[in-house]
Amino acid sequence: MKDSDSIDPKALRRAFSCFATGVTVVTTRNRAGGPIGLTMNSFTSVSLDPPLILFSLGKKSEQYEDFMAADEFGVNVLCEEQVGLSGRFSTPGDKSFGDIPFELWKTSAPIIPGALAAFDCRIDQRVDAGDHILFICRVLHTAVVSEAAPLLFHRSSYVRLEPQVDA
Ligand SMILES: Cc1cc2nc3c(=O)[nH]c(=O)nc-3n(C[C@H](O)[C@H](O)[C@H](O)COP(=O)(O)O)c2cc1C
Repeated sequence: MKDSDSIDPKALRRAFSCFATGVTVVTTRNRAGGPIGLTMNSFTSVSLDPPLILFSLGKKSEQYEDFMAADEFGVNVLCEEQVGLSGRFSTPGDKSFGDIPFELWKTSAPIIPGALAAFDCRIDQRVDAGDHILFICRVLHTAVVSEAAPLLFHRSSYVRLEPQVDA
């Protein structure tokens, strides 16, 4: 019997979901060169020197082949008003931009205007991790673009940041 045999996947998913996160759209180019994006909350800062971030892609994603073939990625940290983009880029099926505007910084990865901050990145290493692949990327350019309220995700729902109360 493996150690993990006693872990119920539903219980594990529920426990994972207690960890409140921001929400990003990770963008890249598909194999035809078109801009695509995928909603991800697995974004994590990794290292200041060198500047590294990571995100984790499920192997069952329809975008798996395109993300594995790509080298350049944009991580766009969403604000509350961009909740529609989170829905758009997490709905199974087409992940192309359509008429959603984007900018280019240093790489070919689409950068979404109005996001709180963005990281324009090149792949450093992919690490196989169970049913996901960790994408560890070097940040080539970044900027804080907006001071708006962040979009947050907690227990499988979008939530708002409460204004801080002084003690
Ligand atoms: C808030 C939120 C965060 C998500 N984070 C991730 C993530 O970190 N990694 C991932 O592979 N999928 C993540 N997903 C799921 C994808 O956005 C997408 O729904 C899933 O990959 C199925 O679509 P696809 O098959 O077209 O990729 C997240 C979804 C939501 C709504």
